[in-house]
Amino acid sequence: MLAHGTGQKPHAIFIPYPLQGHVIPSVNLALKLASKGFIVTFVNTQSIHHKISKAQPGSGGDIFADARKSGIDIRYETVCDGLPIDFDRSLNHDQFMASLLHVFSAHVEELIRRIVQQASPPLTCLIADTFFVWPSILAKKFGLVYVSFWTEAALVYALYYHVDLLRLNGHFGCIDKREDTIDYIPGVSSLEPTDLMSYLQDTDTSTVVHQLIFKAFQDDKGADFVICNTIQELEPETISALQLEKPFFAIGPIFSSGFTKSMVATSLWAESDCAQWLDTKPHESVLYVSFGSYAHIGKQEIEEIAHGILLSGVYFVWVVRPDIVSSEDTDPLPEGFREEMGNRGLIVPWCNQNSVLKHPAIGGFLTHCGWNSTLESIWCEVPMLCFPLLTDQFTNRKLAVDDWRVGLNFKSKLGINQKEVADKIKTLMNGNAECRKEIKNVKKALENASGPDGSSEKNFDQFIKDLTLRIQKKELST
Ligand code: UDX
Repeated sequence: MLAHGTGQKPHAIFIPYPLQGHVIPSVNLALKLASKGFIVTFVNTQSIHHKISKAQPGSGGDIFADARKSGIDIRYETVCDGLPIDFDRSLNHDQFMASLLHVFSAHVEELIRRIVQQASPPLTCLIADTFFVWPSILAKKFGLVYVSFWTEAALVYALYYHVDLLRLNGHFGCIDKREDTIDYIPGVSSLEPTDLMSYLQDTDTSTVVHQLIFKAFQDDKGADFVICNTIQELEPETISALQLEKPFFAIGPIFSSGFTKSMVATSLWAESDCAQWLDTKPHESVLYVSFGSYAHIGKQEIEEIAHGILLSGVYFVWVVRPDIVSSEDTDPLPEGFREEMGNRGLIVPWCNQNSVLKHPAIGGFLTHCGWNSTLESIWCEVPMLCFPLLTDQFTNRKLAVDDWRVGLNFKSKLGINQKEVADKIKTLMNGNAECRKEIKNVKKALENASGPDGSSEKNFDQFIKDLTLRIQKKELST
């Protein structure tokens, strides 16, 4: 594939958001672009790079070194996010976000300037996470085409995109918020205010995260293309409505080509092996419990969940991330829990989630409904017990439970107690025929979309064609 004006391949600089759930699909997408003939310069923050290298000591200074051996041209750079490498971004979340809001772009600008001066072939395009507040400004400055990468559901994009409509109708950002159904967002038949992303349910809308989101969606207006990790057949109306606004391509699910194995190290924590333990357990008898990479849970809730899991009597693998409550409380499980669970459970700080979900012993997933986890669970046909904690997870719950019927609700507004936890787990693990049937259908939709003639593959090819044309046009006009 050659860019017309120069006769050279398109060269993209790809900058993922420096959070685990964004780095993973970004690495996978970068590999896919490179396999289609793009030259990709992939940029992690120094902090993310440091965590990956520490978690997987073999990954060395360049996480793409092995991938390059397959012949693709993918280069690797790191950039400072504005804070010292060892600064605790989990504990000081708002300071981290403030740095991404105010400081990060200056470092990125310096990096792009250097790459623009040195790159061969020349840099032609910037692919960056939609949540950044600066891509369209920097793309303009350096004459690059800007591709905004949205790693979450199209529904979530649509709701942020139309935040002014929510405000106008009194569902967001006012004192007496309406509590009735939201039925006026283009392409969204209806949803309840409790299905909104947590940031759109908050009463204080002046936080650093709010400023960041509003500014990011302002910047996103300057995007030449938006590519989204979703599937056309799963969100058809929402995607069609967005396509009336801008070039929007559904290209998901974006997994690594091996699904359970990746050529590139991406985990920020060392992965514990679960296979040996799982191999000893009967088919679909084990509950997998994980609340993702980002959100925190209260200590009280952890205790109720822990006692509830024991009460349910099922086998379980539980990822207790070292900062799940706080990085100052690295072992938040109730006293005596480990002794009581014995061989019924396996507690790990982090694992290769895709390998665990694919294991035949897994029969259910108690999940926070992160978008990656949702897609991965569907791919492995593992029904979910949905316990959203933050951000888009409430909206993903709505898609998984209400629309696609591949999961059960868990959270009650009144909080949780161990008896309820145990009952829900038993319902999920013992039969639950509807979810198990529906998840097979939704999995089929994902599989078809990513097949050679599937919608995501076609959309991906169309996106590359349109992007190449846009790059050529830009080159001819300069
Ligand atoms: C947040 C948002 O909620 C999510 O919707 C967004 O897409 C990214 O940021 P996060 O907590 O990172 O979510 O969850 P999720 O999207 O599910 O991503 C977590 C990733 O880490 C998944 O790809 C999962 O496979 C991986 N993971 C998780 C592991 O590899 N090992 C683990 O032990 C736990």
